Amino acid sequence: LWTPSNIIDDAIAQIRARVGGDQVLLGLSGGVDSSVVAALLHRAIGDQLTCVFVDNGLLRLGEGDQVMATFARHMGVRVIRVDAEKRFLDRLAGVEDPEQKRKRIGNTFIDVFDEEAAKLKQGASGVKWLAQGTIYPDVIESAGASTGKAKVIKSHHNVGGLPEHMTLKLVEPLRELFKDEVRKLGIELGLPAEMVHRHPFPGPGLGVRILGEVHKAYADTLRLADHIFIEELHRADLYDKVSQAFAVFLPVRSVGVVGDNRQYAHVIALRAVETIDFMTARWAHLPYDFLDQVCRRIVNEIPGVSRVVYDITGKPPGTIEWE
Ligand code: XMP
Repeated sequence: LWTPSNIIDDAIAQIRARVGGDQVLLGLSGGVDSSVVAALLHRAIGDQLTCVFVDNGLLRLGEGDQVMATFARHMGVRVIRVDAEKRFLDRLAGVEDPEQKRKRIGNTFIDVFDEEAAKLKQGASGVKWLAQGTIYPDVIESAGASTGKAKVIKSHHNVGGLPEHMTLKLVEPLRELFKDEVRKLGIELGLPAEMVHRHPFPGPGLGVRILGEVHKAYADTLRLADHIFIEELHRADLYDKVSQAFAVFLPVRSVGVVGDNRQYAHVIALRAVETIDFMTARWAHLPYDFLDQVCRRIVNEIPGVSRVVYDITGKPPGTIEWE
């Protein structure tokens, strides 16, 4: 019988039988899949699990602290937080092309993760297993030809992203599950509902939502705008009615007036879509009054933003992300 608690009991028995007394490493992103794996493994093997959370400086407002609060503080999971913002931003300096940015972010992630893993492998306990949040659609996707950008990065982050020399054995307890099933397990395992029902967030993070070259100041501005948009969506009870919503930083400037002053500042685009499979999507017909409220807050509260626009492009012809 498919009930979350049966699935969890089964998965726990299988994990214990597989890894025995060995140490397991998990790359925790804060996304639904890796979060559920963390909670599941923690329940199965407790202190034999060590998570590595890489803060690449391209996360949403307060995201790193939230991940640490949920897992390390509340659940008692061992999480190593690696502050790699500077390293990522240095690798992105001067790079404008979206695919180049994705590649560099993916490779830097692997380098950082690999270094942490090497330390843990050589440590007294000697990590032997790598856990991954691979879910059934990832398995299907990576079986076919790799064409889309999401798949390219997925091959870094999710599926088979194990550098040869690491020779860790893989444990993937969600391999047979669909997303909605993974969410149910997450709730049953006691993860916060906001975490389990979060919109998808791409591996390269804000790196592909800042058009062109990435700068820390742009990321800081975008974080604030995105936070306002998401906060207002929750407040208006619209967050769960859209499939994905976010802000995009446009590195062009536009003239505006604030009080008596003319300001020549950047533009923020808002994107919200409704979709089942993320292969096609319709732009969300958010109420005008709602958009008005979000726009006013962004322009009034964030220095350096003079204008807000709303993206009304479907997929196709647009993609969901802007890069
Ligand atoms: P697009 O922009 O291709 O996005 O219509 C479809 C879905 O995939 C996500 N996406 C990514 N996820 N790495 C990821 O992990 C990526 O490079 C990437 N690019 C897009 C996007 O957020 C949307 O949910």
